[in-house]
Order: sequence, then structure tokens, then C-alpha cells
Amino acid sequence: MLNIGVLVSGSGTNLQAIIDAIEAKRLDAKIAVVISNKPDAFALTRAEKHGIDTRVIVKDAFPDRETFDAELVRVLNEHKVELVALAGFLRILTPVFTRAFPMRIMNIHPSLLPSFTGLDVQRKAIEYGVKFSGCTVHFVDEGLDTGPIIMQAVVPVTANDTTETLAKRILEEEHKIYPEAIRLYAEGKFKILGRRVLSAESGTVEASLENPPIKK
Ligand code: GRF
Repeated sequence: MLNIGVLVSGSGTNLQAIIDAIEAKRLDAKIAVVISNKPDAFALTRAEKHGIDTRVIVKDAFPDRETFDAELVRVLNEHKVELVALAGFLRILTPVFTRAFPMRIMNIHPSLLPSFTGLDVQRKAIEYGVKFSGCTVHFVDEGLDTGPIIMQAVVPVTANDTTETLAKRILEEEHKIYPEAIRLYAEGKFKILGRRVLSAESGTVEASLENPPIKK
């Protein structure tokens, strides 16, 4: 069974989606530890409710980012974590961390990468005027949101969308694809060719979409 460590900073709805997938036996994995850099993150309450070990590691307790990251690595190794899932973890990781878990760190990002990296990306998507946004599960490398893409979901942007309405619809898709991407990993259902993460499972992707829709 795959041992996962989840890193959080906030509300933890993606953490909840992973917990739910495990409890529903859609995902054969165990969350060994949830680590937050924010003591008041609601994600910690969610984890505790499900009997998951939690740790709070606050950056201010360390002289620099490298020693903070080394402590994260130490705690994850202590829990024998094989895959690290970043779920709304609001810190950029240094090579001390990324090199400790090469191709073993995943992140969920609320845009269709490589468009709109960084923060506040639902607002950036609306202001740019894209007709589709969505979310991406990707491996984490040393860049900002640049690692190989595992899975994406598309969400249309409508004329009436606000940052909040778009973020809410994207979040619903995040909760579907994050546990699914972890399942593919846990079951060894993809191979990696350079930047391309190729699913070994068969299935048909829905036909292409147009937005605004073409009148029939
Ligand atoms: C999500 O939008 C995720 O894509 C981004 O941070 C947010 C975390 O939300 N990385 P939650 O804490 O999982 O509810």
C-alpha cells in the first residue's frame, strides 16, 4: 500500500477528497502524516477527525528555507512516505526538498498549466479572457509549476464568471482528478517519457469542446 504524506496550509478540501477516496476504497493508499506550515489550518482538523497523524512545522522556527525544508524531509522520512502530495501548501520548496523526492512529489494547481502559474490564477484566467481554464496535477520539480503533467480537467469560463464562481467550479474538478492521479501512481498505471506522463489505462476522452458553443 502506498504511504502518502500530504502538505497543507489551508482549508484542505483536496486533502478531504484524498481521504474520501481512500475510505471509499477507490484508492489503495494510506496517509501517513499531514504536515501544515500554518497552525490554524482547517486541514489539520480534517486529518485529526480521520485519525491521521499531524504535524505543524512553521517557517519562522528555522533560520532559512533550506533548514525548514530539511525538517519537512525528516518528518516525511520518519513516516516512511513514498509519495508527497502538496494540497494547497503555500510555500515554494527548495532543492533540499525536491531532490529528496524526485518524481515523488505531486501538486494540484487551479489552472491549465503551463498557463497561469503562481497565485491568484483564477482571477488571472478571467482577466486574460481565456474561454477555458481548469486544473492540473503535476509532478513537482525545481521550477514554479513546471513539472511533468499527470492529469488535467477543463472548466469553461463563462461571461458571468467571477473569481469565486470559477474557483468553485475548478475546485470540484480538483477533487476528482487529484485522487485519480494518485491512484494511477499507486497502481503504476503510467510511464514517463521525458516530460510526458503517459497513462497505461485505456478509455476514451470526450470529444473536443467549443466555448462559446457553436449553435446547432
Ligand atoms: C486549491 O485551489 C489548489 O489548486 C491550490 O490551493 C487550493 C487548495 O485548496 N493549490 P484546499 O486547501 O485543498 O481546499
